Amino acid sequence: MSTQKSAKITFSDGTPAMDLPIHQGTMGPDVIDIRKIYGATGKFTFDPGFLSTASCESKITYIDGDKGELLYRGYPIEQLAVHCDYLETCYLLLNGELPTQDQRTDFEQRVMRHTMVHEQMNRFFTGFRRDAHPMAVLVGCVGALSAFYHDSLDIQNPEHRFISAIRLLAKMPTLVAMAYKYHVGQPFMYPQNNLSYSANFMRMVFGTPCEEYQVNDVLVRALDRIMILHADHEQNASTSTVRLAGSSGANPFACIAAGIATLWGPAHGGANEACLFMLDDIQRQGGIEKIGNFISKVKDKDSGVKLMGFGHRVYKNYDPRAKLMRETCYEVLDELGLHDDPLFKLAMKLEQIALEDDYFVQRKLYPNVDYYSGIVQRALGFPTEMFTCVFALARTVGWIAQWGEMIAEPDQKIGRPRQLFTGSTPREVKPIAQR
Ligand code: SDX
Repeated sequence: MSTQKSAKITFSDGTPAMDLPIHQGTMGPDVIDIRKIYGATGKFTFDPGFLSTASCESKITYIDGDKGELLYRGYPIEQLAVHCDYLETCYLLLNGELPTQDQRTDFEQRVMRHTMVHEQMNRFFTGFRRDAHPMAVLVGCVGALSAFYHDSLDIQNPEHRFISAIRLLAKMPTLVAMAYKYHVGQPFMYPQNNLSYSANFMRMVFGTPCEEYQVNDVLVRALDRIMILHADHEQNASTSTVRLAGSSGANPFACIAAGIATLWGPAHGGANEACLFMLDDIQRQGGIEKIGNFISKVKDKDSGVKLMGFGHRVYKNYDPRAKLMRETCYEVLDELGLHDDPLFKLAMKLEQIALEDDYFVQRKLYPNVDYYSGIVQRALGFPTEMFTCVFALARTVGWIAQWGEMIAEPDQKIGRPRQLFTGSTPREVKPIAQR
């Protein structure tokens, strides 16, 4: 980053003015460096929700919300989704460059050699009710991985960080598939390492020991692309959680479990599940004819109803992933002979109506990655409660890349925000008889 410019901050309360350095990145907004403000003025800055705050310097993912642009290590998501597969994208996010053929082969072999989980992991599942939400199971089981790998928990050791990254990438598909199998009461399927990463995952989810699983290359490619679209996304809520957890020196498995917990929220990765429930609801109430009623409810602030899968903190234009997700959705439905899928038609009509409605236009609310994700995942055979688990699986590489970047930061410190305190001033405790 370069620092030629500065900002002057003056105070009306007599606090001496101060100059703050402005750092310029390679793309995107400049940042005002406020690190010395508290020491110089005794004042904190205030930015709940971090609407105007850059929490770190990063080289991994860049989003231009106004243009609707998303780059992983400088490569547009539209190109990666067409020319690469998910493992290549993982290599890129982790290493900063796309792999050569040899690097890709070596990386894939390393990952596919770690796909099994410790056999004792199976016992964690039986402690959950069968109808437990798979995300609850996933949070628990990923956190429990730290109980098995005492050989690689020194996060200052790059080799430990590397093997932990490989283990997490390799075991997430297995754990997500196990969470699903436990949920539906089917036996766990062991990984089959001669399959591709995504084919192996689909077989562990949809295959059974009773018959040979038939890999459908079109559907596998669609899932692989969906995972590319979800792989990383700058400093979103779950990534910020992983960074903050990692800043305390917590082990990578615990940090990723914290990221999964954060992603679960309906305002974040849980939106794909919430969006499908929303579409199902409208469909049950009459479908396309009832879109007007629904939109009226969304506009009524007191209703608390949101158009799930719409809006984004950064994108004030079309989320480029939503466009690619809609195309993938169409390909999958076409492959499965479901082009008349009523929910897909409903979703496209709802999108069209919303994009022409002033309420959404004025607030720059566009479809985000979660809007079509549920429809295509349902068509692939995933039950609604599994959607966010698939999102967590895909985002694991982004969390690991961002965590690794944070750990390698030369002046990395534990994250410890302050507050604006508006509670009680000091007071005396009275004996209970006098309260
Ligand atoms: C993801 O951060 C990331 O990068 C996340 C993610 C990733 O890859 O990691 O992209 C993945 O989480 C995508 C977002 C999925 N969430 C949803 O689809 C849930 C529905 N969306 C909203 O909850 C909301 O849009 C957020 C949470 C996504 C963004 O909220 P912001 O930035 O805090 O914006 P806001 O709530 O201040 O909204 C601004 C205005 C408000 O109206 P006014 O008070 O100005 O009148 O827009 C309204 C909001 O009420 N609004 C919506 C809306 N989203 C915002 N109104 C109706 N429906 C919506 N979906």
